[in-house]
Amino acid sequence: MDLSLLGKNALVCGASRGIGKGAAIELASLGANITLVSRSADKMSDVIKEMDMDIDKGQDHDFLVADFSDPKDLRKKVKGLILRRPYHILINNTGGPAAGPILDAHTESFEAAFQQHLICNHTLVQLLKKGMIDAGYGRIVNVISTSVKAPLDNLGVSNTIRGAVASWSKTMANELGQFGITVNNVLPGFTDTERLRELFGNQAQKEGITYEEMAERLSASIPVKRLAHAKEIGSAIAFLASPAASYINGINMPVDGGRTRSL
Ligand SMILES: NC(=O)c1ccc[n+]([C@@H]2O[C@H](COP(=O)([O-])OP(=O)(O)OC[C@H]3O[C@@H](n4cnc5c(N)ncnc54)[C@H](OP(=O)(O)O)[C@@H]3O)[C@@H](O)[C@H]2O)c1
Repeated sequence: MDLSLLGKNALVCGASRGIGKGAAIELASLGANITLVSRSADKMSDVIKEMDMDIDKGQDHDFLVADFSDPKDLRKKVKGLILRRPYHILINNTGGPAAGPILDAHTESFEAAFQQHLICNHTLVQLLKKGMIDAGYGRIVNVISTSVKAPLDNLGVSNTIRGAVASWSKTMANELGQFGITVNNVLPGFTDTERLRELFGNQAQKEGITYEEMAERLSASIPVKRLAHAKEIGSAIAFLASPAASYINGINMPVDGGRTRSL
């Protein structure tokens, strides 16, 4: 099976921590040159040091500081980036919207989430597609959520925007497949990251229990009886980015230990 990404360049968003960092490490372990994107230069420098120390195949990693709440600025910065090298792999990923019931959501929160998720994904695909078409190789993986299959409680804005991204992604897959570019979505289950600690830490506090007790309760509801590690989501992303996944296009892949009860 061909999993080698030697000579391939990957733009990995939301890569200063959590799932994005897990994806960057797994893609680097298959040989890709990684450009990390987030708002935190220090943390991204540390991720690069980690990759250089653990997995050195003579790769060339760098990072871009950008804020996904400003798609116009992102466009300008990435235009500069692609002058240096084209990208074969794009991992669309950023921070999730705040929790809360949909009835309480302000209209501005939907607009902000639409900008940060859908518009930024779209901006990046438009900028990177030429490089992928010229190379005859493109892999776009969007990190969304299992909520595209079954909406999650208390995540009103998030559930809404994930559905929009899934529809955008499927439409992109239809249009880009002819160029050797695949577009797929990874749907993480409960993954032990800062995002999960924040979401369920707050809920645990309300219920007067610790985060660890809450994590145990969540784990009990998952067939594999534990939370995911960010690296496990990263492995699925890296597989979809590999030559071996060439005929997988337009799918939603849950990586959730079997938690989602739909087929
Ligand atoms: N963890 C889970 O259980 C889970 C489950 C399903 C779906 N998801 C979704 O998967 C995605 C990643 O989750 P995660 O758990 O890895 O989240 P996380 O730990 O909060 O990490 C989010 C990443 O996105 C970056 N980011 C956040 N806001 C940004 C902005 N405005 N501009 C640029 N970068 C930004 C963060 O970097 P900086 O803060 O350094 O900029 C960080 O690298 C999220 O959309 C999340 O909702 C997570």
